[in-house]
Amino acid sequence: MRIAIGNDHAATALKFEIMEYVKELGHEVVNFGTDTNDSCNYPEIGARVGHAVVEEGFDCGILICGTGVGISIAANKVKGVRAGVCSDVATAHLIKEHNNANIIAFGARIVGSELAKDIVKAYLEAEFMGGRHQMRVDMISDLEK
Ligand code: RB5
Repeated sequence: MRIAIGNDHAATALKFEIMEYVKELGHEVVNFGTDTNDSCNYPEIGARVGHAVVEEGFDCGILICGTGVGISIAANKVKGVRAGVCSDVATAHLIKEHNNANIIAFGARIVGSELAKDIVKAYLEAEFMGGRHQMRVDMISDLEK
């Protein structure tokens, strides 16, 4: 898969770890986040990754800030984005299986790096189940009209 990743200053170190891990899993990853610990603004990065996923052919996105919340809220303002925060492995596969989320977010101040890797792996390996879930995802899309 071709994956867009983004982070703010709260998550730079974890972003680099996750980039390496995603490559080890055999994926391509493109970095839209900050590479320093200098304060920056997560809405810009969330939106940038959102546009990358919806308009630039990326298969999905990974967003990391302090909590995962601010950056996912920003991404969700981009039409076509379905981003959610995951702090556990069960949610990480369900967010794909049920919600067909095209961006997963988590917090560098909330989850440790090993759990973050497990979360990313669960999300990337999960598949959307369709069926009744497709109808509900379509209802979410209808809210954007
Ligand atoms: C930055 O201090 C912090 O607010 C940000 O990383 C994130 O947690 C916002 O939701």
